[in-house]
Amino acid sequence: MPVTRTTPTADIAHPATYALGVPHAEFERRRREEPVGWVPEPALWRHSSAGRMQQQGPGFWAVTTHDAVMEVSRQPQVFSSALRGAFLHDPRTPADLDFMRQLLVNMDAPQHVRIRRIVSSVFTPRAVRALADTVTRHAQDLVEAVRQRDNFDAVTDLAAELPLLVLADLLGLPHGDRHLLYRWSNNLVGFDDPEYGGGDVEVYRQTFAEAFQYALAVAVRRRAAPRDDLISLLATAEVDGRRLTDREFCQFWLLLVVAGNETTRHLISNSLHLLLHDEQLRGRWLGSPLPTATAVDEFLRVVTPIMQFRRTATQDTTLAGTRIAEGDKVVMFYVSANRDAAVFADPHRVDLERAPNPHLSFGVGPHFCLGAHLARMEMAALLDAIAPHLPRLAATGPVVRLESNFVNGIKSMPVGWT
Ligand code: HEM
Repeated sequence: MPVTRTTPTADIAHPATYALGVPHAEFERRRREEPVGWVPEPALWRHSSAGRMQQQGPGFWAVTTHDAVMEVSRQPQVFSSALRGAFLHDPRTPADLDFMRQLLVNMDAPQHVRIRRIVSSVFTPRAVRALADTVTRHAQDLVEAVRQRDNFDAVTDLAAELPLLVLADLLGLPHGDRHLLYRWSNNLVGFDDPEYGGGDVEVYRQTFAEAFQYALAVAVRRRAAPRDDLISLLATAEVDGRRLTDREFCQFWLLLVVAGNETTRHLISNSLHLLLHDEQLRGRWLGSPLPTATAVDEFLRVVTPIMQFRRTATQDTTLAGTRIAEGDKVVMFYVSANRDAAVFADPHRVDLERAPNPHLSFGVGPHFCLGAHLARMEMAALLDAIAPHLPRLAATGPVVRLESNFVNGIKSMPVGWT
């Protein structure tokens, strides 16, 4: 597969850069010349009731090789998730930081260990496997529905729908409410995109308030009358004699809404995009006797739906020969590590038979993705459901990409049947 053509010095910190595609040429240069390199941050416009203002982060160390990303992830005591959160954008106020720290991804041990144990006591591989039939049925129904139409949008009608339906089941919500989840996660993850969050701080805050109000009502209902769903278990689960507080429950609920939605959507949409635009790849996929699971992991590697997560150095240290000072922002670019030639032969090639495939798309270390099984299951179900019809599916217009330095997103992808 060709490396996306961008200028060799594309600004990897700027959300708008990614509207043109991931700047793989720049990441390749960085891996070669400065595996841990300093990146100044651009000034970005924000809006609130107080007016329009520019916000500019202090800059960060971009970690771009597989080795160095592993090194950061495996030393949570040196590279903290809680100190300034796990997101590239810095919290604006101490109150924002306190609020963020109630979210699992923004915690360090021992708090992280305790909350993760509560969550993983219900979010087990077995509980996820129990969803397999439902996931397969949703994937088949969705493909059947788009087969009835001449033209459709592969993102909004297919890729976004599957994770939303699965989440609604997982969270025990009426399917009709899934569009609320879609809007909330677009507003939060698409904060920088002019069409979604638009850098509007009020929209961001309102989205949290609305989603929390909804989640709290769910928690109250489930505690009063538990059902046979994961969210009832989560609302009532106890570890060491302690339940999640309402606030912790809401934060985790929202994390599931966002993490279980955008990520899988963009994995599916980007993979379909690759299959539609590369006839040889499509032929290899359709003719391959290999289990879908191997292909799913290769799509995870080349797409890398979450491009980066951030840490903050708790002490002066050295990483890949570069000196990092206490308090420095350190950003692990999984999207780059996943194409490191030191680990992956011919890294820009989509090799659906690649094995082993030690990609880092789900992160690594104590924060390893809790939804990895579910995401793989959804992707496999959709690929299997669409495979018989893939030879007749064609792009009918250009894709529109998300302006985000966080998720590798496609907002719309017009397609039709030939
Ligand atoms: C293709 C799909 C997905 C990708 C690429 C992905 C990626 C990631 C990554 C990179 C992390 C690590 C965060 C860090 O190190 O700071 C993570 C954590 C997490 N993911 Fe996923 N994810 C996906 C799907 C899901 C799904 C479907 C769910 C749940 C329904 C989910 C729930 C979570 C949770 C709860 C965490 C936090 C774990 C912790 O902090 O201990 N993810 N994910």
